[in-house]
Amino acid sequence: MTLRYGEKMTRNCPGQNLAVAETKLVLAIIIRHYSFAVSPTYVHAPKLSINLEPQFGAQILFRALTT
Ligand code: HEM
Repeated sequence: MTLRYGEKMTRNCPGQNLAVAETKLVLAIIIRHYSFAVSPTYVHAPKLSINLEPQFGAQILFRALTT
């Protein structure tokens, strides 16, 4: 099971809307300046801790967009 914002819990996360807004802002800034793709060296090995995460990290190749 993956924990999500306060799911099946009695308390709530007051920062969830801020966290989503921050994530959207960062992603918007990144895709405005770069294209990106998963590196050929990436090995798909999901690991469940509190969140689902890549066991060996995610190697991403960024390429600056020319304007
Ligand atoms: C991806 C980002 C975030 C995730 C996944 C997350 C998740 C959670 C979870 C699972 C809880 C526990 C809820 C419970 O006990 O039932 C929590 C509580 C809390 N979160 Fe977040 N959170 C995030 C971002 C933030 C941010 C940005 C802030 C503040 C700016 C924040 C402030 C808090 C506070 C103060 C609590 C404690 C609430 C209480 O005491 O009842 N969180 N959060």
